[in-house]
Amino acid sequence: MRIPAELLILLDAQITHERTNAAIYAQMASFLDARSLVYLAKYMQSQAKGEQFHADKLVNYLSDRDDYATFGNIPAPELSPTISAAEYFTVALSVERSTTYGVVELYRVARAMDPQTEVFLHWYLIEQVEEENVVGEICDRFLRSANLGDEWMDNFVRENFDRLTGK
Ligand SMILES: [Fe+2]
Ligand SMILES: [Fe+2]
Repeated sequence: MRIPAELLILLDAQITHERTNAAIYAQMASFLDARSLVYLAKYMQSQAKGEQFHADKLVNYLSDRDDYATFGNIPAPELSPTISAAEYFTVALSVERSTTYGVVELYRVARAMDPQTEVFLHWYLIEQVEEENVVGEICDRFLRSANLGDEWMDNFVRENFDRLTGK
């Protein structure tokens, strides 16, 4: 059974959303690396790869359903190169929250229209719990380390890298 056209449009939009997220995290990684905040940059690179994986997984799903993805435009990230690392993570948390909102809306439509897509999206719903949890933890630690600064946070991410990136 083919995916209903209305749902396919929303799945394409989710692919574009995930690819946009990848661009945002890759841009943050570049800015952080320029400041030699090496582990914060590596963390953002890992996030960018994760977002690309989310997009690819959706693209593969569409071809498994005998359909194809139609890619949309990815806007250039609107980020300053000079804000603090903590501010990038505040942006990251809002990115993750809006992604969760999008997945939940997509899920509601899938549930009404297409049982296979409904079940497929379970993975994304749970993935977003993890994404918000980890980025939220880093934001909390930044908040508490306000006078210790970006260097301390870079060390924290170095020491906890595998856990934070789900390895
Ligand atoms: Fe994602
Ligand atoms: Fe994410």
